[in-house]
Parts: sequence; C-alpha cells; structure tokens
Amino acid sequence: MYICLCRGITDSQIQSAIKNGAQTLSQLRKNLGVAGQCGKCACSAQELLDAAKNNNQNHSLFYALAS
Ligand code: FES
Repeated sequence: MYICLCRGITDSQIQSAIKNGAQTLSQLRKNLGVAGQCGKCACSAQELLDAAKNNNQNHSLFYALAS
C-alpha cells in the first residue's frame, strides 16, 4: 500500500527501512524521502515507526469492519 503518494513509497519500503535501522521520521525522510514533499504521509509513517517500536506485529492502518 502506498503511504507517500508524492514519492511513491509503500509501507513495505518503510517497514524495510525500519528493519534496517531507521528509528525516526527524519531518518525515514533521509533514507527514502518519505514526507519530503507535501508532508501528508508523515502521520502514517510515524504510525509505522510507533508500531515497530511497540513490537506490534499486527499493526494495520485499516480497521476491520464488524460483519
Ligand atoms: S504524500 Fe508523502 S510527501 Fe506528499
């Protein structure tokens, strides 16, 4: 799923960068360019960072709908 539309950066790319040591939004910006243009993706990228910090393996940007 695309997180940063301006730069065409996906959640997989961000998670890979986090696994490779990125710990802050600034580091993600330097490594990938995320949030380097309009900045609208910053919150989503930060959520991915926070989830990784909390070791929440099941983190998702979407919530399941009750059926
Ligand atoms: S959506 Fe990421 S900088 Fe615009």
